[in-house]
Amino acid sequence: MKPRILVTGGTGYIGSHTVVELQQAGYPVVIIDNLSNSNRAVLDGIEKITGIRPDFVEADCTDIEALKKLFADYPGIKGIINFAASKAVGESIEKPILYYRNNLNTLMNLLEMMGKEEVKGLVFSSSCTVYGEPDHNPVTEDTPIKAATSPYGNTKQISEEIITDVIRSGAPFKSILLRYFNPVGAHPSAEIGELPNGVPQNLVPYITQTAMGIRKELSVFGNDYNTPDGSCIRDFINVVDLAKAHVIAIARMLGDTETPAIEIFNLGTGNGVSVLELIDSFQRSTGVKVPYKIVGRRSGDIEKVWANPDRANNVLGWKADTPLDDTMRSAWAWQCRLRERGVM
Ligand code: UD1
Repeated sequence: MKPRILVTGGTGYIGSHTVVELQQAGYPVVIIDNLSNSNRAVLDGIEKITGIRPDFVEADCTDIEALKKLFADYPGIKGIINFAASKAVGESIEKPILYYRNNLNTLMNLLEMMGKEEVKGLVFSSSCTVYGEPDHNPVTEDTPIKAATSPYGNTKQISEEIITDVIRSGAPFKSILLRYFNPVGAHPSAEIGELPNGVPQNLVPYITQTAMGIRKELSVFGNDYNTPDGSCIRDFINVVDLAKAHVIAIARMLGDTETPAIEIFNLGTGNGVSVLELIDSFQRSTGVKVPYKIVGRRSGDIEKVWANPDRANNVLGWKADTPLDDTMRSAWAWQCRLRERGVM
């Protein structure tokens, strides 16, 4: 029997896909989530795919008493994957205290519990946002960190620093920091996927909702960037590919092999794809048109960033290899499932 893993934010978008991969790899999972940006029905989706309903605690990770109770109720947790965080860039500029409190207190509570409870490893969800607007692409893990442009981005930078300091102080556990590029798509079963509250801020949910007729038109934020077609370039990575890296990271920290106490990996495909190319891929692969118009730039957007994923490829033996068209089809299948269920 593999050890129990605590997944914070496990009913969220990336969290739920990771719970599926963990369960399929034989890890018992307990989820803690305050359902602030997700819902209980996600547990049904996970159960449908894996045949296992993960243990679930509805609570907030900023509540240390709730965490203490969780560790008492679910003994033997050996790894934590921390997805529980607020992640809307714009909102973080309006409500910085909310972002700092939620994202940083959650992390510090988890680190405190790890020391007390003999947890061996922490996987932390970081982001390519730490690179800001890089001077060169693709970015490696050694590309310099730039000053954060939003409180959200700053919480990722500060969290990385907090974890590093705690490990350097001699904490009896390891940590792997995963810097995600742009996770997109849904599980191929279409049982789970991304379900943003309200009007989507991110590109792919906006595309699928526009294709479904929920939104009238997609706004493409800028076509005057210094890129081949003028739109921004990102590294869009399939969410299931991304989820699989977490299972490898957990196995690495909990295994017997000597590995560094703290490691950082970029999780991306290595391919830069423009916003207009992504829309094309969606339309080509699904046969569904997405009405769009070009509008002005969105403030704070990075012009171009994509990953050099060599370290994750070589050290973790992990690769993001789902073709973009398949990923776009999966995003559309999920949107269609939401319609069947009467959700959207
Ligand atoms: C950003 C952060 C990422 C963070 C995420 C959280 C960077 C490089 N990335 O992602 O770390 O986790 O926010 O939300 O800082 N777009 C449109 N129309 C839309 C929506 C988006 O044209 O309606 C364009 C954007 O201008 C951008 C691209 O699509 O060029 C991707 O946008 P989005 O999906 O919001 O992700 P990022 O801003 O890259």
